Amino acid sequence: MGDLHNKTILITGATGALGSETVRQCAAAGARLALTARSADALAALAKSLATPAEQVWLHPADLTSSASVSELMSALVARWGGTDILLHTAGGWAGGARLAEVSDAEWQAQLELNLLAAFHINRAVLPWMLEHKWGRIVNIAARAAALPGAKQSPYNVAKAGLVALTASIAQDYRRSGVTANCLLPGTIDTAENRRNMPDGDFTRWVKPTEIVSAMLYLASDAAAAVNGAALPVYGQS
Ligand SMILES: NC(=O)c1ccc[n+]([C@@H]2O[C@H](COP(=O)([O-])OP(=O)(O)OC[C@H]3O[C@@H](n4cnc5c(N)ncnc54)[C@H](OP(=O)(O)O)[C@@H]3O)[C@@H](O)[C@H]2O)c1
Repeated sequence: MGDLHNKTILITGATGALGSETVRQCAAAGARLALTARSADALAALAKSLATPAEQVWLHPADLTSSASVSELMSALVARWGGTDILLHTAGGWAGGARLAEVSDAEWQAQLELNLLAAFHINRAVLPWMLEHKWGRIVNIAARAAALPGAKQSPYNVAKAGLVALTASIAQDYRRSGVTANCLLPGTIDTAENRRNMPDGDFTRWVKPTEIVSAMLYLASDAAAAVNGAALPVYGQS
């Protein structure tokens, strides 16, 4: 997957099921890690679990739905390492259960904020450094629902479809810059939470976090320089 030793990687949602596996694989590949999520305690616990030298790991809690919080995160990151070469944006989350006529304003807004507004804030924030250095990789985690909308989750479907469009827009805006933006569309991920919530599901068919990270690291590599604006299905066997 190329050498990540001289690369800074900002991983959002770092403490989540997918994010923490992303962190482990990027740490093993020797990258400098900038890790963020809202909970400072969870970030500290994650960092403690890594064998990575302390100077290679930087933690900063932030709420990505807040423009001010993302500005603060980026100012601190710029002060620490100048910026980031790679953004792996995994933060996001599902909520649903209602058909459109029963979706409340609050439910709609919360999903759009978590899965789309947050992505806008963090994607916008990382671009200046990448453009200055004429190299950058953005990988956003959308969902299969962006391509194949599920029932009773319209806010999630729409937010993730928006994230695909955001990613493609960045790819178009900066197509001659050396910076690429792509997204992945995971199907149901084999996480502990999904196993708890769907005990009758066939876990063997669900895509594993490690398989998604492999696709992320490909998109983040020099080998993927010509891949820009893609929305890549990672459904496993589901
Ligand atoms: N799980 C699935 O089956 C599945 C399927 C398709 C797509 N996806 C997508 O894959 C991504 C990862 O899913 P996951 O299951 O690994 O999620 P997860 O375990 O719930 O982790 C979510 C992460 O995002 C952080 N986060 C949540 N709200 C945030 C906010 N406002 N600001 C900053 N960070 C925030 C969480 O930490 P804090 O709570 O401390 O902030 C946590 O680190 C998501 O984008 C999800 O939509 C998941």
